Amino acid sequence: MDRVARETHRRFSAKVGAVTREAADILSIELTDPDGALLPPFTAGAHIEFHLGNNLIRQYSLCNSPAERHRYVVGVLEQKDGRGGSRAMHRLRTGDSVEITEPRNNFPLAGREANSHLLLAGGIGVTPMMAMLAELESRAADFRLHYCTRSPAHTAFNDRLRPLIEQGKVVVHHDGGEPARGLDIAATLAEPVPAQHVYICGPQGFIAAARASIGAWPPHAVHFEHFDAVPLTAEESAWDKVPFKVKIKRTGELIDVPSNCSVVRALRAHGIDIETSCEDGYCGTCITRYVEGEPVHRDTVLSQEERKSYVMVCRARSRSPILVLDA
Ligand code: FES
Repeated sequence: MDRVARETHRRFSAKVGAVTREAADILSIELTDPDGALLPPFTAGAHIEFHLGNNLIRQYSLCNSPAERHRYVVGVLEQKDGRGGSRAMHRLRTGDSVEITEPRNNFPLAGREANSHLLLAGGIGVTPMMAMLAELESRAADFRLHYCTRSPAHTAFNDRLRPLIEQGKVVVHHDGGEPARGLDIAATLAEPVPAQHVYICGPQGFIAAARASIGAWPPHAVHFEHFDAVPLTAEESAWDKVPFKVKIKRTGELIDVPSNCSVVRALRAHGIDIETSCEDGYCGTCITRYVEGEPVHRDTVLSQEERKSYVMVCRARSRSPILVLDA
């Protein structure tokens, strides 16, 4: 199969180091270079892809300090009713070899424009926040993390968090499975704080509650990281009914993308492979450059700037009759 040009991140083999139970269903998994070399650097909020075989690709946020170059650490929640990625991750053992990619960051920390940082984590959404905490501490920045979990047994990274809890920089909220008994997200986000940036990561309900409460904040100060798909609005869904064509720049081939068929599926039907993972616009795997046309971006990954050159072809549609992919 052909492969459409995408923003690739180098894939390489890593060795599984320590595997540690962090909470009831959460393992942290350490990865090192098989020969002990330094790993490609990363910034707080970054994730790596795991290529687990049988087209199973999953992304996990790095939760160790970005200052560490000898290892990556990811935190993985086992989702028993998931599609198998987290179960495969939980089967990894120390010494195993696994294919990963260089880190990519869809969820970076703000720089000097931020005077303070407010982090809201729901459940396993704490993993990118752990790298952020390390970075913010090294910057001696002003920050606070609200970490929402079901119970103490479901709370990960206790040893790392304890000193910060004692300093009041991390507040843990247990809701017993009823979000209304946990953090009052609406009250927490009610008043924008000048020059404060907010970072939100967690399951869909958690993100939805934050989105419903964040309206008064300036958009540039609000940062989301998604673990699952955000439902399309009615206007976004309407584009599913509008067919268009995709042109492959290199060959000039024109491919019909019918209504209710993704670009990825249309290309595959013509023998053109695009690597995907979530197929719902939130993981970043299918990022593809385009050179002409007007995509309807329906992802939660690309920034406004990136949208001028890239499109997530698992979920995007097109306003223009033809979308030309740089392939
Ligand atoms: S496959 Fe995940 S964003 Fe397209």
